[in-house]
Amino acid sequence: MDQHGPYLREMGLTRWRFGSQSTDRTKFPSNKEQHFRDGSLKANLGNLAVLAREADGCRRCGLHRTRGKVVFGSGSAAARWMFVGEAPGAEEDKQGLPFVGRAGVLLGAMLNSIRLSRDDVYIANVLKCRPPNNRDPFGQEVRECAPFLHRQIDLVQPEIIVAMGRFAAQVLLDSDQNLVQLRGRPHNFGETSAPLVVTYHPAYLLRSPAAKSKTWEDLLLARSLLT
Ligand code: URA
Repeated sequence: MDQHGPYLREMGLTRWRFGSQSTDRTKFPSNKEQHFRDGSLKANLGNLAVLAREADGCRRCGLHRTRGKVVFGSGSAAARWMFVGEAPGAEEDKQGLPFVGRAGVLLGAMLNSIRLSRDDVYIANVLKCRPPNNRDPFGQEVRECAPFLHRQIDLVQPEIIVAMGRFAAQVLLDSDQNLVQLRGRPHNFGETSAPLVVTYHPAYLLRSPAAKSKTWEDLLLARSLLT
């Protein structure tokens, strides 16, 4: 067991084996280093900030009337990994940050279980504003909001996208297949063709801890797709 043991236990995992790939290569190697050097990272950071300001003033759907804070996204603009959830909950709406409630604590453990931290990845949701009482997003809300997510993906240029839950998976893959049909195999995201892996939403894992081992498999699959 190493220092990641506690996180793996939080994930409900008591037996594990890491592959031979060195940990640090999953963070900022090769083309992301280039990204740093050629100044495009700085430009992308600026563009993400501009986009975040645009989202802050957004009134494209009715959610602007009930939201507390817009939850744009968080993490590194140089991240190789991007994790996408559904929509902010109550705590996220208060803080303006994604995955800071109970599901966020578990997401942190999921990241730590593959030796990543929140700072190594970029985290965003399909919807940037909280639907009242955490109801399912309406189609019109998704249509108005999804362009923000698409632009975030264009700017961060993740090398692997992890869609958490049926909703994010269906939106990102433009599919109506259910989670069981979508998980367990690699997909590609739209025009960027970035590899995409579907896994369970951390909020679901809080209710159904038995699915944590499948989530672990999904994270290993995602890691194996990084070159
Ligand atoms: N659930 C989500 O899908 N996103 C969050 O930010 C929090 C909970």
